[in-house]
Amino acid sequence: MSISSTRPLSLPPLRNLLVVGGGGREQALAWALRRCPEVGKIWISPGNAGTVNLQGCDSLEVAEGDHEGLIRECRTHNIDLVVIGPEAPLAAGLADKLRREGTAVFGPGAEGAQLEASKAWAKQLMKEAGVPTADHWTVTSEEEGLAVVQQLRRPLVVKADGLAAGKGVTVADTVDETTAAIHDAFEGRFGSAGEQLVLEERLCGPEVSVFALCDGEQMVLLPPAQDHKRLNDGDHGPNTGGMGAYAPAPLLDQEGLEQVRKLVMEPTLEALRNRGIQYRGVIYAGLMLTKEGPRVIEFNCRFGDPECQTLMPLMGPELARILQACALGRLAEAPPLTPIELCSACVVSAADGYPDAPRKGDPIEISLNVDQSEYQQLQLFHAGTRHTFDGVLETAGGRVLAMVAQATDFDQAFTKAYEGLTQVRYEGMQFRKDIGHQVRAPKLS
Ligand code: AMP
Ligand code: GLY
Repeated sequence: MSISSTRPLSLPPLRNLLVVGGGGREQALAWALRRCPEVGKIWISPGNAGTVNLQGCDSLEVAEGDHEGLIRECRTHNIDLVVIGPEAPLAAGLADKLRREGTAVFGPGAEGAQLEASKAWAKQLMKEAGVPTADHWTVTSEEEGLAVVQQLRRPLVVKADGLAAGKGVTVADTVDETTAAIHDAFEGRFGSAGEQLVLEERLCGPEVSVFALCDGEQMVLLPPAQDHKRLNDGDHGPNTGGMGAYAPAPLLDQEGLEQVRKLVMEPTLEALRNRGIQYRGVIYAGLMLTKEGPRVIEFNCRFGDPECQTLMPLMGPELARILQACALGRLAEAPPLTPIELCSACVVSAADGYPDAPRKGDPIEISLNVDQSEYQQLQLFHAGTRHTFDGVLETAGGRVLAMVAQATDFDQAFTKAYEGLTQVRYEGMQFRKDIGHQVRAPKLS
């Protein structure tokens, strides 16, 4: 959409914002929303050790699951807009509750959040809307699942229907692996999230993440980003939440992005509307670019992590107004999105033992001057970090922090991000050395 930037701003005042969540994604959102000159103060709840020192931002000690506590904080601080980061509070209906209180919220209600919270629901919606995706079978018992495998006699992708913290998918290489994954899920491996499974045809091609900021009717697309899901270099090792990203991903040029808008994003938003759902938040489409064209691998009802940390430094100061306009169903009144034309590179550093059993409590030393680094287009976003009672910064989760840098090309951006990481130390620190290999010049050695 293109809207004249000379149009007088008719949106209500936007002084106090609340970002819900405590990951790197939420720190990056708070960091970017602060850039809007009208925004006075940003609250983040609960935030992390990195948000404590973020200028213009204060942390609140209310957990993302404490809906009543968050509603109280909105009243206390006269919050004009709430931006909900993670999927769990969205799926649990936090946005619905806040809206009932009259608060503007960027984030779908529980019904819309099913796009992520139920893979079977999302697949049905895609089918109705004619959105290209892998063929699938929804099954509710092991017998039913095995019958599908027996009939097809080829390996399938096995997905737990519900939220499984990014661990609910098995991309099976053999029929035996498919059968074992079905068996494990019905044995309770994913708890109630695995009581229903989606079995999918296995697709092939590079993956790209596309984000649409929606007001229920209209949308604005962000530049595409590419995530790196596997733990180790060369895309080996277990799946993770994401070990690094870059944007804009050249995998989708302007024409490709427009194709995704027409084939995927607009029909999805329309199908949501047809179900009576006013989706005011971000639709995150995880796409696979197959030989036959783009196919949806999954939908999420939130920003990607670490794609968000990668994209936020490319956003102009109008972002806060755009999210507000989405929250109010008035995107036509928002200023146009003007992404900064630089390449953004993000490298995630994880804790020892991530993703299976991340160790907590390792002291972290950071010798980077963060204020200085922002100026140099280098950002350090925390995630699994905390301060001990005596003020020592230590690891507190699987993905510990993300180093993000921008430059005029990806080689320079990644060089800066990796140099930034040399100024961070903790026991067992692990990060991939090859993030962005798709867009970096090969090293001559
Ligand atoms: P998801 O949690 O649905 O994003 O799946 C995790 C990862 O599994 C994706 O990023 C893909 O790499 C892979 N995957 C999911 N569905 C498929 C599919 N139908 N074909 C091939 N790979 C898939
Ligand atoms: N980076 C993948 C995700 O946020 O699900």
